[in-house]
Amino acid sequence: FPRLVLEETLYTLGQLKNAAPDFPHIALAGRSNVGKSSLINALGRRKQLAKVSSTPGKTRSVNLYKVEPHGFYLTDLPGYGYAKRSKSERELWADLIEKYLVECENLAAMAILLDCRLEPQEADKMMVRFALAHAVPVIPILTKADKCTQKERSERINQWTVLIPKGEPVAVSSQTGFGLEAVWKKLIGA
Ligand code: GTP
Ligand code: MG
Repeated sequence: FPRLVLEETLYTLGQLKNAAPDFPHIALAGRSNVGKSSLINALGRRKQLAKVSSTPGKTRSVNLYKVEPHGFYLTDLPGYGYAKRSKSERELWADLIEKYLVECENLAAMAILLDCRLEPQEADKMMVRFALAHAVPVIPILTKADKCTQKERSERINQWTVLIPKGEPVAVSSQTGFGLEAVWKKLIGA
């Protein structure tokens, strides 16, 4: 497995512009609580690389993890679509992700994490359209595969395959380790 090292934590929009310009970035996006930070920990085989919580809205900064020896960054982003968050916080998230998409010249791809138990949600479809409109390739990832049946999973894969060009989703469980190798393969190949 590749090694993950926390390289930079960014709290404001201003810090984003020239962050880590040396290598390509792959951002992990998804609704709050979908399991972005947990996936970082599972991929890095470390329990506390990224902060995880059962309460949505845990990640509030942009965290860049260097992938060794491959020389690219994985970015853990704050989640979107958390209704209980204040309007200003939701707007900050939207600004962060938009600025990231528009200004990060090294953004090679966007991994969009989707809960395998849920029907495609409007917020996720919007995220996919937004990335594609900015010509950023989308890597769909179905999370919490341990929580859904084989049947549910293949139903979800079919639904998302129609919505994302060239993007059959890969299913993963950060809890059991199922699918981690397949996810690494997608990320390294992007
Ligand atoms: P924000 O930072 O709020 O956007 O959330 P996040 O997407 O980073 O989610 P996080 O990794 O903090 O996980 C949210 C909750 O889901 C935690 O309680 C995790 O333990 C749980 N979780 C994450 N991945 C899995 C998984 O593969 N299986 C199961 N069963 N639970 C998971
Ligand atoms: Mg998080």
